[in-house]
Amino acid sequence: MSSSATLWRLDSQNSSVLLISDDGVPHLQYFGERLVAEMVIEDCTPLLDSSVLHASQDQVQMLSLFPEASRGYAGSPGLAGHRNGKQFAHRWALAQVQQQTDLNALVFTLKDEISSLDLELTLALDQASDVLSVQTSLVNTGTDVYTIDWLASATIPLPQSHTELLSQHGRWGAEFREYRRPVLPGVIDISNRHGRTSHEHAPLVITGPPGFGNASGDVLCAHLAWSGNFSLRVERLSDGDGTIQLGVLPLPGELQLAPEKRFDAPPALLARGLGINTITHCFHEHIRRHVLPHWTRSPRPVHANSWEALYFEHSVENLVSLIDASAELGAERFVLDDGWFGRRRHDQAGLGDWFVDPTIYPEGLHPVCKRVREQGMQFGLWFEPEMVNPDSALFEQHPDWVLHLDGIDTPLARHQLVLDIARTDVRDYLFERIVSLVEEYAIDYIKWDMNRNLVLAGDGARARAASQPAALYQLLDDIQAACPELEIETCSSGGARVDVGILTRTGRVWTSDNIDPIERARIQAGFLRVYPPEIMGAHVGHKTAHLTGRETSLHTRAIVALQGQYGFEIDARRLDAAERRALAYYTDLYKTHRGWLAESRYYRLDSSDDSLWASSQVAKDGSICLATVAAGSAHPHSRTGHLKLMGLAPDGHFVVTLESNNQNDIAAFSRALPDWLVGKASSTGELLMRIGLPLPIMPPQSALLICCRRS
Ligand code: GLA
Repeated sequence: MSSSATLWRLDSQNSSVLLISDDGVPHLQYFGERLVAEMVIEDCTPLLDSSVLHASQDQVQMLSLFPEASRGYAGSPGLAGHRNGKQFAHRWALAQVQQQTDLNALVFTLKDEISSLDLELTLALDQASDVLSVQTSLVNTGTDVYTIDWLASATIPLPQSHTELLSQHGRWGAEFREYRRPVLPGVIDISNRHGRTSHEHAPLVITGPPGFGNASGDVLCAHLAWSGNFSLRVERLSDGDGTIQLGVLPLPGELQLAPEKRFDAPPALLARGLGINTITHCFHEHIRRHVLPHWTRSPRPVHANSWEALYFEHSVENLVSLIDASAELGAERFVLDDGWFGRRRHDQAGLGDWFVDPTIYPEGLHPVCKRVREQGMQFGLWFEPEMVNPDSALFEQHPDWVLHLDGIDTPLARHQLVLDIARTDVRDYLFERIVSLVEEYAIDYIKWDMNRNLVLAGDGARARAASQPAALYQLLDDIQAACPELEIETCSSGGARVDVGILTRTGRVWTSDNIDPIERARIQAGFLRVYPPEIMGAHVGHKTAHLTGRETSLHTRAIVALQGQYGFEIDARRLDAAERRALAYYTDLYKTHRGWLAESRYYRLDSSDDSLWASSQVAKDGSICLATVAAGSAHPHSRTGHLKLMGLAPDGHFVVTLESNNQNDIAAFSRALPDWLVGKASSTGELLMRIGLPLPIMPPQSALLICCRRS
């Protein structure tokens, strides 16, 4: 490092960032716990490792924020691209550094005169959430097209002690499953080529020392705010350096940068702290303050969704009776799911024809909407705008509107194809249809679905997978501008499109089509690692879960649904009076607590009993906590052990109550219950956290909802 090197520093509430550069790409010297001492560059330079092993490059190369192959870096570079096969490597010179004090950000502008490119790296450390966002942009200052094969949104040093990686993967009905693996020499490349965020790979990686836990270990999380193809690379090099790298994964030749054009890579978000729960708090805070639409801050209404109650059995009569029965359970918004439009009498036709089916609804949706309003509810409608069935009027009129590659058949999925929504005519059609329906029926909410992967995502000749999410974002922004009060949910066969990119436009998430509460408890735990609970659609389903055939009690279903934005996906007409009363009790509970829950801190709680899923939501001031415990299978021991709570005011006294009124169901399975379950109990915050609450013997598939309220 030359004597002219400069040091930059960003501080937030609990984190600090140090960056050093002489005349090239800055090095991220430090990102971690907040630093307290004042410092100058001379305090940092002695700590840079400049040792050089024999038989290696003569001068040590520091790992930069945008690694250059031209300096001998042999890992995954920041940029791979060319001009018709030439200018295959890059050498960046620092041209300008701007400080954006309002955003607590630094903007580095770098130039590569040889290949005529400008690079902009923006690092912003959010004061309140401690989330570091990295934004990378590339500008073509040359006179011919530059092809981007790979542009990293961020390349971050992997701390040396971080030898374990946690990532999330899944499938339809089983999203956000967590996997751990060691980080060994070479690259772990999690590449998503499904064209949407995908069930298969969540766009995030979490690293730490072996065995890092919910409350232990120095943990780093990196997330890519993007709803399309991506690559997440965790790489360990032979010199001991390691990187986490995230970026859009382009299809061959699809990122062509014309002269004077700019490509803004999607932002990467990073957080570092003690244990995964700290990372969760950073992300929840950041997403609440800076990502979600403003309407997510208002009380989140109780949904009643028609899908699992009716599927395609639509009729005004069916709907009116379902609306009435749902209102009795306390629902505040009725959502008419798939089946109301075009030829959509089954799942093989009609997508694309966004006109109300007059054979089912001769007066349009007006009688349905009228009943919804009479019951004091809001009205929501399902759409799957990006899709078309070959059996539809739209496809018959515009077969050229679909993504395809001339000469090769696109495989169907769910009997559907994908529209090329980056085309202006397609975009205009969808915008007109959606906005006019929203206006005609005063629609409050849209469930925006997207039910297949992109295969052969081309315009006939060239690949277009990366333009699809960008066009989607634009369409959502345009609709939101035209209908500012409209709320939009992201759904993609459940949770196949969940990321911070889509969440800037959608403020509710359908995490899975699997409403079996035992499966759902695990899915929700994965979702809640980064995304806040109040946007997590969570419905009470039927006694026998449609996706798994498992039977569970109404209490278990309601307790698990109370972890998120509570609602129903149940044929409320078929419930008996006792079930209706029991559900109405849980609905009231949701309405009582949803105010503070929407700003609460979520903790995944450790349990020595791996049959249990335990978590809690704690008010920010530590005065009240709702903890959920769900038992997936039989306990391994004859006693269940203690549940150690987290986040309570240590010096506070708390009254502990069983909020779910299922004490009798639990009592039947053991000879005696812990005292707190049979009488009024109280204890201090610190004892509840250090010793914990003894749990009763819980039968498999049961759940408890425990409240600790400061007295
Ligand atoms: C997807 C969604 C479901 C439902 C159906 C309708 O699978 O995830 O919730 O809306 O589509 O076809």
